[in-house]
Amino acid sequence: MIPDEPGVGRRYLQETRYRRESLGEPGPAYPRVPRYKEYPEAPQRLPLETAPRDPSDLWACLRERRSLRQYRERPLSLEELAALLWAAQGVTLASHNFLFRTAPSAGALYPVETYLAAHRVTGLDQGIWHLHIPDFTLELVAAGDCRQALAAAGLGQNFLGTGAAVFIWTGVLNRAMAKYRERAIRYIFLDAGHICQNLMLAATALGLGCCPVGAFFDHEVEQLVQVDGREEVALYLAAVGAVG
Ligand SMILES: Cc1cc2nc3c(=O)[nH]c(=O)nc-3n(C[C@H](O)[C@H](O)[C@H](O)COP(=O)(O)O)c2cc1C
Repeated sequence: MIPDEPGVGRRYLQETRYRRESLGEPGPAYPRVPRYKEYPEAPQRLPLETAPRDPSDLWACLRERRSLRQYRERPLSLEELAALLWAAQGVTLASHNFLFRTAPSAGALYPVETYLAAHRVTGLDQGIWHLHIPDFTLELVAAGDCRQALAAAGLGQNFLGTGAAVFIWTGVLNRAMAKYRERAIRYIFLDAGHICQNLMLAATALGLGCCPVGAFFDHEVEQLVQVDGREEVALYLAAVGAVG
């Protein structure tokens, strides 16, 4: 049955359209929040290095990229992980107080935070890690094996526990809403999409498997990465692991 009234999704799209007659009208002020999230008290910090890599054929990666959900036991190396993190959110230009990244972001605000559930990465303890952007460093948020919890949070999708690692992206809403107000929500999801595609192409270039995941219990994912689910919300996941 087609609903009479538009649902929240349609109303959101209508209410956040830019219109010539109202563009620039004053609206509510949203609090400004720090540009970068950092865990200064993290019990472990691991600076990452990105070694220069052989050029891969972008066109071949585009052609060969697939969502792959079956992974081998082989752990990821730290070098592979660093390359994947760099592809997702590496800094490629520091200019005018901005740290520009491999993926575009509306207003260069970068409201998307990258966390990693490390299941099998050589040299990295199991647990939830956060990527600190300015130092390209992983910060330990919570130690321990979260394979089962993550697969359960992902509606029982097993590959979230059998992959070597799972990228978890959250959105810090006010970082973008302070500028774009309600329309920012559109941009935050677009940002996450760009980031995930970078990750998938990098995984393809490295001969690894990757699968994006949008189906998850938001609250359970937010609990795992220890964010409040109001100001910082779960957006998107991607499992990675060895294949072939
Ligand atoms: C926003 C989004 C959410 C997705 N969520 C899931 C998911 O929860 N589980 C899953 O197995 N695949 C998920 N996928 C992967 C799609 O099923 C996959 O991209 C699609 O079947 C096309 O296949 P391809 O990526 O190999 O080209 C998602 C993809 C996108 C873009």
